[in-house]
Amino acid sequence: MNAVEMIDIVKEYPGVLANDHVNLTVREGEIHGLVGENGAGKSTIMNQLYGMQRPTSGIIRVFGQEVQIHSPKDAIALGIGMVHQHFMLAPSLSVLQNIIMGKAPMKGPFIDLRAARAKVQEILDRYSFQLDLDARVYQLSIGQMQRVEIVKALYRGARILILDEPTAVLTPQEVEELIKMMRLLKQQGCSIIIITHKLKEVMASTDTITIMRKGVVTGVVKTSETNEMELANLMVGREVNLRIPKADTSRFTERVLLVRDLSVYNERGYPAVKNVTFSVRQGEILGVCGVEGNGQTELINAITGLTPTAGGTVSIYGQELQKSSVRKRRQHRMSHIPEDRVTVGVAKPCTITENLLMDRYYEKDFCQHGILNYGEMRRHAGELFEKFGV
Ligand SMILES: Nc1ncnc2c1ncn2[C@@H]1O[C@H](COP(=O)(O)OP(=O)(O)O)[C@@H](O)[C@H]1O
Ligand SMILES: [Mg+2]
Repeated sequence: MNAVEMIDIVKEYPGVLANDHVNLTVREGEIHGLVGENGAGKSTIMNQLYGMQRPTSGIIRVFGQEVQIHSPKDAIALGIGMVHQHFMLAPSLSVLQNIIMGKAPMKGPFIDLRAARAKVQEILDRYSFQLDLDARVYQLSIGQMQRVEIVKALYRGARILILDEPTAVLTPQEVEELIKMMRLLKQQGCSIIIITHKLKEVMASTDTITIMRKGVVTGVVKTSETNEMELANLMVGREVNLRIPKADTSRFTERVLLVRDLSVYNERGYPAVKNVTFSVRQGEILGVCGVEGNGQTELINAITGLTPTAGGTVSIYGQELQKSSVRKRRQHRMSHIPEDRVTVGVAKPCTITENLLMDRYYEKDFCQHGILNYGEMRRHAGELFEKFGV
């Protein structure tokens, strides 16, 4: 039986045909990959299955029944759960509270916490998931938060689970954990739709793959009968070279960043970075790896000026800046693309133009006598749009 059939789905936004007669079939108990470049229409098609958007036209069947899904509530009632790209958890509440939120068992006017805990524990046992129900969500790693989201969906009775780019935020170890969890879910009869553009992961985890490009489906393949190269070609519509040639940078010798004996405390006041020393040359790409929660975030926050250092120095082009403001560091031409783009990277209520100028709006070109020059800001943004295909 098919868990999901989406037939001839069209979704039009003003000026964008986000889904152009998309067909998607997911069999019961399969792990189905949905792959495509950014903007291909993957989230849009899934948002319609989850009732966050209504199709312009098309038919949706769930377990063989034609359905109208007007809201996530409808979707949940049909056994559909979705874990979004950006988690929807209350950080200051406990794991248990987050899972049962909005659907708690009641005893008179009160939440029956014992019954809730028993029910959640049963789910954890059934799928052999590990989770500390009493931890506060803000204390969890990203991988653990994702697990909370998955259990939340299962608690609501999900038999079809949509995971939107679940591996984007995970370390390799966490990705392995997630794939293990997906297999456990599948064993229990769950159908899973996983959106991703990471080919290795889709090859490792799925049974079937639907490929999208610019709003249309360009292929449906069995995972066992395809390879990364074919997927890449279907995704981008031309031959892709998966090996990125590395430029020779040996002619650069200048040391751009020097971090020496750096120590940083974490949010809870414990040492997170201890006497770390390294440098980065011009033209060099330096990777820092490790399992999440081992000081990488604190290291970057200290280098970029978001948190104070407890010792050591950070020098850019030979100048010590460990006590300087973020703005000062930016003026020395350090920039930062944070791991959590939504919370730290952008101001969502502001326009794209405003966001693009967030770190230099005060410069003479964009601001005179405390008044922003929107014309100039827009011109600058337009240039960036053009140059980077925004
Ligand atoms: N709410 C919306 N309003 C207008 N356009 C949208 C909206 N959501 C998505 N789009 C557009 O639809 C296209 C597909 O987007 P999306 O489904 O998010 O792609 P993907 O998830 O594959 O990266 C993009 O061009 C995007 O800009
Ligand atoms: Mg998306």
